[in-house]
Amino acid sequence: MPRPWRPMIAAKCCTVDDGQVAVIGNLSRCRPTRSEFSKKVAELTSFRRLMSPSAELSSSSSARFNEDLSAAAAAGYGIGAGLYAFQLCELRAITHDFSSNYLLGEGGFGTVHKGYIDEKMRPGLKAQAVAVKLLDIEGLQGHREWLAEVILLGQFRHPHLVKLIGYCCEDEERLLVYEFMPRGSLENHLFRRISTALSWGTRLKIAVGAAKGLAFLHGAEKPVIYRDFKTSNILLDSDFTAKLSDFGLAKMGPEGEDTHVTTRVMGTHGYAAPEYVMTGHLTTRSDVYGYGVVLLELLTGRRAMDKSRGKSEEKLVDWARPYLTSSRKLRCIMDPKLAGHYSVKGAREVASLALQCISPTPKDRPRMSAVIDTLQGLQHLKDMAVSVGAWPTTPIVGRNAISAKSKMEGAANGRRRVSASAKLG
Ligand SMILES: Nc1ncnc2c1ncn2[C@@H]1O[C@H](COP(=O)(O)OP(=O)(O)OP(=O)(O)O)[C@@H](O)[C@H]1O
Ligand SMILES: [Mg+2]
Repeated sequence: MPRPWRPMIAAKCCTVDDGQVAVIGNLSRCRPTRSEFSKKVAELTSFRRLMSPSAELSSSSSARFNEDLSAAAAAGYGIGAGLYAFQLCELRAITHDFSSNYLLGEGGFGTVHKGYIDEKMRPGLKAQAVAVKLLDIEGLQGHREWLAEVILLGQFRHPHLVKLIGYCCEDEERLLVYEFMPRGSLENHLFRRISTALSWGTRLKIAVGAAKGLAFLHGAEKPVIYRDFKTSNILLDSDFTAKLSDFGLAKMGPEGEDTHVTTRVMGTHGYAAPEYVMTGHLTTRSDVYGYGVVLLELLTGRRAMDKSRGKSEEKLVDWARPYLTSSRKLRCIMDPKLAGHYSVKGAREVASLALQCISPTPKDRPRMSAVIDTLQGLQHLKDMAVSVGAWPTTPIVGRNAISAKSKMEGAANGRRRVSASAKLG
């Protein structure tokens, strides 16, 4: 059973205008760090003690910081409730000194390593595989982001959100320990050549699971805007249950009469809603746009943003939009790796849903609860397509054609995209 949602941020944090409204055309500006939610945490009176001089990165700060976390938990913020504080030497041991043999992946903020916890490590903590994220902390800001993730993720328990097991804060090291997701990220499955193609049914299952995670955040008493919905943040369990990870950019939604939160524009190229990029106005519908982009990636097997393609095909939303209105056109952009094995009606419905999600007008985008209803209604469809066997295994139309080389470049391109320098300004 999911733990009931308990808001932990004071209301003023959620609606305050941080005065850093986006500059139009600012998307190419690189930003080395990601969470301005975390700065808000630091600014809260309740959390000021966490972030003021005691948060300087000195060895003496670590013990103090841990005390602060416990104090916040005692004050009802839920920090540390069910979270384990690990020692660096413990995490070193379970990951074989963060060996590259145990490397699961690398994002913009550091490497992620697999480790095994045995039942002797902590009373009450079961033996299990874990993923240890080693944050590349650069100064106080990096620390704040790590802290925000500990505080926010520590609140959540839901079948479609990755579970944060614990953290480590020692000297200048900041680490996070998550449940291990055996099938890695959706990004790896869709775009890496090593993995076998995801079936249509599995794609639908993942889309439904990820939608449930987002719906949970949006449906909370105090809605949370996730702000970084993308394939690399959708992790997969052994049975392809999708779980959202990475809450570094998450932000509490508007309160009371407010319709939006105004904030600095952050996120990932290709996924950010246009009105958010233009105005800095953030709503749950901004997440729905990102969700629509992921639906397009599931349909087409193409990345949200792929600089290895020509200008007209670089941005998936712009390229795919004209094809989403009919089955005949849609057929031209379906992921060749599906080799025609998909429900034609299902694909048409998913395309139509994606089109709504990426609507330029936020209020025309569906709520995530409606998205779930639509997608669940498609899971039983058995009208598996078309001339199985005759379906080309290479892209259908010339403009769709990509060589193995450019696919590799696309993967590399994607890795750069999600690295530190690729976050939106
Ligand atoms: N809990 C986990 N279980 C298994 N693999 C994981 C887990 N968390 C992360 N990974 C792997 O590590 C990779 C890097 O994750 P990380 O969140 O650091 O970066 P990212 O999502 O690729 O980029 P960004 O920095 O933009 O979030 C993921 O793509 C995934 O393959
Ligand atoms: Mg991530």
